[in-house]
Amino acid sequence: MSKVDFDEYVKEYDELLNKNLSFFSKDDSYFCRYKADLIKQYSSKNPKRILEFGAGIGRNIPFIKNAYPESEIYAYDVSQKSLDYLEQKHPYAKVIREFKGFENFFDLVFCSVVYHHIPVDERQKATNDIFSSLISGGEFFVFEHNPLNPVTRKLVERCPYDEDAVLLSPGEMKNTAKAAGFNDFSVKYYLYFPPALKISFLEKFLRTLPLGGQYMLKAIKR
Ligand SMILES: C[S@@+](CC[C@H](N)C(=O)[O-])C[C@H]1O[C@@H](n2cnc3c(N)ncnc32)[C@H](O)[C@@H]1O
Repeated sequence: MSKVDFDEYVKEYDELLNKNLSFFSKDDSYFCRYKADLIKQYSSKNPKRILEFGAGIGRNIPFIKNAYPESEIYAYDVSQKSLDYLEQKHPYAKVIREFKGFENFFDLVFCSVVYHHIPVDERQKATNDIFSSLISGGEFFVFEHNPLNPVTRKLVERCPYDEDAVLLSPGEMKNTAKAAGFNDFSVKYYLYFPPALKISFLEKFLRTLPLGGQYMLKAIKR
């Protein structure tokens, strides 16, 4: 299976995402806002420096900026063309083109639907690098597709830029983070109900039910 090159999807990324997810929410910013809200809710930090690792074209960036207006926002991705786009669209974000030399630097790092694109044998190294880049007490948030949710699995099968996707369970993600040195894990599930049903407020009571469309793993560098 060859790795998907997101350089080729810069122009159509938004369109493909909308096509795939509009059955759940017509407002495609719903998903980005939801993740920024979860970070804000579950982070105990007032982070000085935040990194989105695998930021793509920067869809989450304005929502993170809105949640943390005082923080410095950094964005890293292997896709240089995605970063070109992100840099133009969100000039306040500091773009990182090569993830090297960051030791004890970030207060908070998050990854949104990135790990399933990282080849399985490269995930540990990526996680080790993220661990090193965080300060002591720094927080790591991973948002991923939930392989236990049949709708999620169908969507991933159908999506052209998910051709290389190998989904990972929260347990696998936790083991990888643990091997990197992280501690204090918690997993929360979300995306059960389309917002149009007007019962999304119930999701907060279902954070531990492992059936949401996606999950969030939080881990801390002690
Ligand atoms: C589905 S997109 C998600 C983009 C963004 N996080 C979002 O939520 O819209 C996955 C991104 O992960 C990036 N990616 C894949 N492998 C990576 C790696 N090893 N390190 C950093 N980024 C990677 C891709 O280039 C792509 O931009």
